[in-house]
Amino acid sequence: DGDWHDLIALDRLETGWVTPAMLGARRLAVYDTPSGIHVSLALCNHGGADLCDGYLDRHLIECPLHQGAFDVRDGRPLGAPATRPMIVFPARIRDGMVQVRMP
Ligand code: FES
Repeated sequence: DGDWHDLIALDRLETGWVTPAMLGARRLAVYDTPSGIHVSLALCNHGGADLCDGYLDRHLIECPLHQGAFDVRDGRPLGAPATRPMIVFPARIRDGMVQVRMP
């Protein structure tokens, strides 16, 4: 188990949408969804586009470049050309902060 890190204040998230946040040198995507906050790497694993510029529909993030899609809860690919799961991190809320656990 890794450590929990403060990522971004909850009130800085765009409601029902995806917000970028940096953790050190890593750019992450923070998703505000009907089941709570989920976090992934921001880079799409298909062609390196920024998922923070994508389109979020409930639990589905659609990549802005080739419209590949992933489930933000577990990272599984939902639509071509995405074929590999995206990297997701456990997230929680503490004292108004989104925290992520890094391996
Ligand atoms: Fe995301 Fe191609 S870069 S689907």
